[in-house]
Amino acid sequence: MRQTNKENLRNLFLAGFLIAGILSAGQTVAQNARIKIDIDRRIGEVSKNIYGNFVEHLGRCVYGGIYDEGSPLADKDGIRLDVLEAVKGLNVSLIRYPGGNFVSNYHWLDGVGPKEERPPRMELAWGRLESNRFGTNEFVDFARRVDAEPYFAVNLGTGTIEEAQSWVEYCNVKEGPFYAELRKKHGYPEPYNIKYWSLGNEMDGFWQMGHLNAEDYSKKAREAAKLMKLTSPDIKLIAAGSSNYRPNADPNEWNATILHELRNVIDYIALHIYVGNVGDNYYNYLATPLVLEDRTQIVKGMILKEMAYAQRESKDPIYIAWDEYNVWYRARGREFMTGTHALEERYNLEDALVIAGFLNAFIRNADVVKMANMAQLVNVIAPIFTSESGIFKQTIYYPLSLFANNVFGTSLDVAVDCGTYDTDKFFIGLDESSTKQEDVPYLDVSATYRDGEVVLCVVNRNKDKAIITDIISQEGLFDGDFEIYEVNGQGIKSENDFGKTTVETIQKPSVKVKKAAKITYEFPAHSFTMIKGAIII
Ligand code: AHR
Repeated sequence: MRQTNKENLRNLFLAGFLIAGILSAGQTVAQNARIKIDIDRRIGEVSKNIYGNFVEHLGRCVYGGIYDEGSPLADKDGIRLDVLEAVKGLNVSLIRYPGGNFVSNYHWLDGVGPKEERPPRMELAWGRLESNRFGTNEFVDFARRVDAEPYFAVNLGTGTIEEAQSWVEYCNVKEGPFYAELRKKHGYPEPYNIKYWSLGNEMDGFWQMGHLNAEDYSKKAREAAKLMKLTSPDIKLIAAGSSNYRPNADPNEWNATILHELRNVIDYIALHIYVGNVGDNYYNYLATPLVLEDRTQIVKGMILKEMAYAQRESKDPIYIAWDEYNVWYRARGREFMTGTHALEERYNLEDALVIAGFLNAFIRNADVVKMANMAQLVNVIAPIFTSESGIFKQTIYYPLSLFANNVFGTSLDVAVDCGTYDTDKFFIGLDESSTKQEDVPYLDVSATYRDGEVVLCVVNRNKDKAIITDIISQEGLFDGDFEIYEVNGQGIKSENDFGKTTVETIQKPSVKVKKAAKITYEFPAHSFTMIKGAIII
């Protein structure tokens, strides 16, 4: 028989334990806080696809990143083995390819067949020469080697719906028609069965090659979807939702229109967000994940409205795919956005905390956010950075890796009682709208539960103070060894570099808990902490 929590508490010899962390020099303790976990209060199942990533033909993401022909660090296929190992550490579930803005003038046929015969093209989105030596088949090989599922974006800018159809045929049809036979001729006898396909990229953006208004996009996407599904009925389709949040844009109008028009056709709506510490204000910046959460809630409401009238074949509702998210504000402007070294953003500790905040937000919205892709994987606003002779892992690598390797199961509706702050009115990034956030909790928390184990993820946004926190189990008792991992650094501007790792994951000594309804932990200033252990009923 299950005991109630009250009975358990009565029986406890030790009602809790205190992990008395030693305060680092200069740190003081902010007021105490409480986190209540209840394994019966469930938000939804965490989709592994929130640990997706993104590879675009941009700067050194492909060439000089994952693929480096002739490099002593690459294998015979041109794959950089040091990059491959680092990617494996991110446990990437799926990888979006080949863009991004690039895809809106990409013709997939250019990138298949004998390499010497592939045409070089002017790359108009990011100002490079595209050799096309890396294309569909090379990408699928790479994705398989890191155990990730490929996710393709079709060109709905300068591309035709027929071109989208033929790519699906090339990838997913076993044999018979022209493009399936072409794949076989190219040396790939088995179909790839690519499941996820996005219908264009950022089509609401005036910068997009072939940009459309919402009505025209909906028409083109619907017809492309028809041909693609007739070719391969089991594919999942992702519509290009809002990416344009500049002050004069109307992202909600775009989302409402395309959700209405495509509600019977699509499986996901894609949203994009890039934030940055533009005003060099730490507390404003650390609140940016709340903006992502606000936008998620707004789109969730729109989806609910459309689902009430939809006539869908799929039994699932439309989900949200945050299929581009990251910090991106330093490598902006023409000089940093064209050519071989485009978008080479270097990250620090505060950026890593924002990424942990985004990941917490995905978990807290696990009922509707079923896909997310950090943009991008290597060199281009990326967790992995290469040179000709090696790599280093940027600060943002560490929270992503912790989540992707540990946080699964059911997302729990956690109650957090802690100090809060209000932000100024601020721009959340370059090319982004402004916001003002009130009551931003110093502790940003998510929790998941799977097979008797709870994983708690906590960002302490407080820049100067540790927060002593009671973590309370409402149902069942904490028991056994609790693993603790922390991402932190000397200061919020600490960065990594080649041969210099100042921000990384530190595994703290694990703590033994003996049937306790409460544990007390001290979250250090400007840190991300993951605590993992059993709850017994
Ligand atoms: O990820 C970099 C760029 O950001 C992508 O190409 C585009 O989709 C977005 O604007």
